[in-house]
Amino acid sequence: MADRQRLPFPLAFATMAAMAILALVVVLGPDVSWAQVPQDYPQTTLEPRSEVGRSIDQLLDNIVVWVIIIFVVVETALVVTVLRFRRRPGSPPAKPIHGNTALEIGWTLAPAIILAFIAVPTVKTIFENAKTTPGDITVRVIGHQWWWEFQYPGLGVITANELHLPVNKTVSFELESADVIHSFWVPAFAGKKDLIPGRTNHLWFTPDGTGTFPGQCAEFCGASHANMMFKVIVEPQAEFDAWVAQQKAPSPPPDSTSLAARGLAIYQKSQCVACHMIDGVSYGVLGPNLTKLATRSTIASGMFPNDEAHLKPWIQNAPAKKPGSLMLKMDLSDADADAVVAYLRTRR
Ligand code: CUA
Repeated sequence: MADRQRLPFPLAFATMAAMAILALVVVLGPDVSWAQVPQDYPQTTLEPRSEVGRSIDQLLDNIVVWVIIIFVVVETALVVTVLRFRRRPGSPPAKPIHGNTALEIGWTLAPAIILAFIAVPTVKTIFENAKTTPGDITVRVIGHQWWWEFQYPGLGVITANELHLPVNKTVSFELESADVIHSFWVPAFAGKKDLIPGRTNHLWFTPDGTGTFPGQCAEFCGASHANMMFKVIVEPQAEFDAWVAQQKAPSPPPDSTSLAARGLAIYQKSQCVACHMIDGVSYGVLGPNLTKLATRSTIASGMFPNDEAHLKPWIQNAPAKKPGSLMLKMDLSDADADAVVAYLRTRR
């Protein structure tokens, strides 16, 4: 069968079918599979919960539509050409041709028009999202190796690694760094924005759904870059106000005979005070503010739950738990560590 050079029909059919299925998967993808993603992939950007997040998602959707159209047109032209103009038995040698002005103008203009349809909305969205909006609330975000400081200048609150925000309020962020370049990224709300030493970057968005959303440093910043996580807790205004009130209310001092009181005495004599602030107790600013530590659900920038079982080994030997930790290994006996933990648990 040396003269039989046709592409066998089943193979051609299988090729077309595979392409059709692929195109279908791509077209249906956004509605069928992506919608189920958030539970499995909490860092998805495809379920935006703010106007800024949605504007970026909309750009992606537009581009995906163009990509599908281009894919289908190009692949169809390719398969039709391969099938229709293939060499047949006894056919004469192919005739060389020179150019086709209409085609060449066409395939120059068409991509230019498509690029314009992609570029104009993209540039428009970039400028819209870059404008500095006053915002209903201002949060100063300071990146540290490897944790997040959140200051609310208008509210007099300083916290770490857990950012509380009221729902449906535009938040204006001032992004700064205490050491190296970090990047502030909450996939549900906005794109990444760098925190650069010596300058203030701006970002804004309006969270419009309540819940807890993961954030992550998105610029390589050293050994524990991957462990520089945070949470954004978006809550109704009343709950947010209650949180602010709790953060500002003084914590009652521990009972003088309690384990916590012994822990306070140990804390005050330890190196802890050089780096950590506890209102009225210590004034360090290098590490996270511990004034209301017990109100946070995690420690070590989201690595561990904030409970006795994790807090104790953490304050005894943080570098063993978090690569590169700038918090030193402390020479605290088990009994002393238990006392300090008991004291920190009263900071609520
Ligand atoms: Cu901070 Cu990566």
